[in-house]
Amino acid sequence: MNSKSILKSILTILISLQFISCTSASIIGDKTRERVSLDFDWKFQLGDIDSAQLESFDDSNWRLLDVPHDWSIEGNYDEENPAGIAGAFLPTGIGWYRKNITIEKLQKDNKFFVEFDGVYMNSDVYINGQLLGNRPYGYISFSYDLTPYLKEGRNSLAVRVDNSKSPSGRWYTGSGIYRHVWLTKTSNIYVPQWGTNVTSTNVTKESATIHLNGELKNETGSNQKVEIQSTIYNAENKEIVSIKNNISVDLNGEFTQKFEVENPNLWSPETPEMYVLKTKLFVDGKLRDTYKTPFGIRSIELRGSRGFFLNGKSIKFKGLSNHHDAGPVGAAVPDDVLFKRLKLLKDMGCNALRTTHNPFSPEFYTMCDTLGILVMDEAFDGWWKAKATHDYGNYFKEWWKKDLTDFIKRDRNHPSVVIWSIGNEVPHFKSEEQKEIVDFLKNIDNTRPVTQGRGHLAPYIDIAGFNGHGELKGVLEKYHKQNPDKLIIGTEITHTLQTRGIYRTKTWYRTKDNPAPWEKPAHFKNFESKVYKIPNLSEEEVFSGITKKYQSSYDNSIVRIGVRDDWKRVEKNDYYIGNFRWTGFDYLGESFGWPARTANFGIIDLAGFPKDHYYLYQSLWSDKPMVHILPHWTHTGKEGVKIPVVIYTNCESAELFLNGKSLGEQKMTDEGQLVWQVPFKKGELKVIAKNNNKPIIEKVFSSAGKPSEIQLNIDKIVVNSNKTDVIHIEVSVTDNKKIMHPEANNLIEFEVSGPGKIIGVENGDILDLSPNKANYRKAFKGKCLLLIQTTAEAGNIELKATSKGLKSATSNITVN
Ligand code: GAL
Repeated sequence: MNSKSILKSILTILISLQFISCTSASIIGDKTRERVSLDFDWKFQLGDIDSAQLESFDDSNWRLLDVPHDWSIEGNYDEENPAGIAGAFLPTGIGWYRKNITIEKLQKDNKFFVEFDGVYMNSDVYINGQLLGNRPYGYISFSYDLTPYLKEGRNSLAVRVDNSKSPSGRWYTGSGIYRHVWLTKTSNIYVPQWGTNVTSTNVTKESATIHLNGELKNETGSNQKVEIQSTIYNAENKEIVSIKNNISVDLNGEFTQKFEVENPNLWSPETPEMYVLKTKLFVDGKLRDTYKTPFGIRSIELRGSRGFFLNGKSIKFKGLSNHHDAGPVGAAVPDDVLFKRLKLLKDMGCNALRTTHNPFSPEFYTMCDTLGILVMDEAFDGWWKAKATHDYGNYFKEWWKKDLTDFIKRDRNHPSVVIWSIGNEVPHFKSEEQKEIVDFLKNIDNTRPVTQGRGHLAPYIDIAGFNGHGELKGVLEKYHKQNPDKLIIGTEITHTLQTRGIYRTKTWYRTKDNPAPWEKPAHFKNFESKVYKIPNLSEEEVFSGITKKYQSSYDNSIVRIGVRDDWKRVEKNDYYIGNFRWTGFDYLGESFGWPARTANFGIIDLAGFPKDHYYLYQSLWSDKPMVHILPHWTHTGKEGVKIPVVIYTNCESAELFLNGKSLGEQKMTDEGQLVWQVPFKKGELKVIAKNNNKPIIEKVFSSAGKPSEIQLNIDKIVVNSNKTDVIHIEVSVTDNKKIMHPEANNLIEFEVSGPGKIIGVENGDILDLSPNKANYRKAFKGKCLLLIQTTAEAGNIELKATSKGLKSATSNITVN
């Protein structure tokens, strides 16, 4: 499937879920169930404001904005901000949001719910001055029944968001209504939010049994006889099978239905086939509700130490851990930005993601279903004790059962979700605590295995999760010996660090050479013999004088193991079912100290530009022929110096050429990389990768002349006037032959006119503390990113990028 058709099928699912966007949230018509977006036209004010929940409050001088919104990313990076290292030195605080909802007609048998996909954190939601509730957990989705407090005409919704106690997380959290908001209208006999549970048994290629367990609410005040008709549709919207039952419901009821599906299209990362189950409720022949549940048919089996089997086939997790933020947009991630990021990972050969260390947005799971990405869905970081001073640990005791229930019910029908994770590096947890959480979870869903980041210390999880310490020699082997029937998963393996475009030829070990704030170099001695060492690429450092805050993009800046060595362990051992690298994307926060805003753990930088590791993983994980060269070939002043040239490829061999002359051919070994020592000479470095001695694919790097032009690479030139679509513009500084200059750091200014607005600029440089909401950015290592979002008008967006001394670039984007 190409990315256009994947996006089309995601849109179909979103539309079939009645994700209808409209600018004014006004509900008309008499359909039994409607869902409209409440994303647009909120009033916002930073700070705590007296009486702002009241209907009569005058918000005319507040700022008008749309959500998803994150006020932290709008602020300045400042060492004094209390979120500190953890929160990327960005501001936090308290903020208020207000929005009017118009209900044109109120009928006594209608119900109205407001649904928040996520508010960070500690939200109080009011309707017409009436408090609906408080939710401390900033990552959970939640809803409130508005019905008793609504009136016909204008109603006032107000939300107070309190992220004033900092740090409230060990990483960048964002602040505000940073996910979508919805208004749902139903009748008073209805399936409540997340009220269906669709599971499959006896799954084979020939048939599968589908079970629906549903909840039903009767708020009519009297007993009702309800006819329930459920129908399964395939991805082409063709009816597959239908069933009818009658039940009598007093107040709240439950129902079950069973279906046989012949020749099911089984869901897997390679075949992400979806179905939709449509449940209709009739009373006296009148339709009262239609509830849609997208689901997939697949089986999961843990076979002792033999592996994790999906649809009867053993599968390895080619996984990445990620936080929820996305570079310059912070935590308020537009769907287009999320999709682009997931697609980039899928193209790398990644087949699994871990939602570190909390629930992600609902759209994330829908996209994983449709793209074919397995999800380790993680509920919490710590449990009863806070890990960051003001994090959710302070609320855990009171809230965990409610939040875990909502999390499981929200995500349980996604076929992509194949493992639950109940926590991460929970300090000094007790076995009984693990048991209590696992038992509670399995009571709600027992169709998936449960794990925990570094949870192997207690026996109640199904798959032993190992974080960083599992990277050391002998640790997994020893555990396996003691627990021969338990599978192991690398919940946070491998940790390596790299900065895009930076190279060092001598290997660095984090603890010894560039310790994290929590490490002491002397401690390296304690575990040096257990580290998977990587030989230096040269005796003397070839690229000296680089700040310690930047890390090398060769696979030689590690904590305890390199990528290649760990993947060998996965391939060799059936019991080691895969790993979730720390991390896929660079995330804000958790840096090694001011003035760095991130630690560079990602294989893709904050701007979404792949580092060389992206291609290393692609060579290990993808079957599509690829080849990659590193480093670049513009080493001014290094004529004649031997540069280690590294090739990553999944082909059998590769031949390297400098200025047309062959430097020899090498066969790929289990080292996972090929290395040539090439005395630097300006010109063209080319690699041809081969299978069976036949050229399959090639890549060329040429030496750049002096920076002289700006080039724009735009991902879409036709978009919609929906205040939603986002255009990614990759900006490169090139020489006059359009060759990107890998050291260029020119300041680029952007002028945007027409129906588009800048929503972010970024270059991936962890030390660049200029604001992300601006119309300028320096290039870092030749590149920067500009994000433009459409407004509500159609027309033409004109973009001009200028920089002193460079030829400027322009572009046009059509907005329909
Ligand atoms: C782990 C932790 C992650 C992240 C990582 C950085 O111990 O679970 O959340 O902090 O370290 O190395």
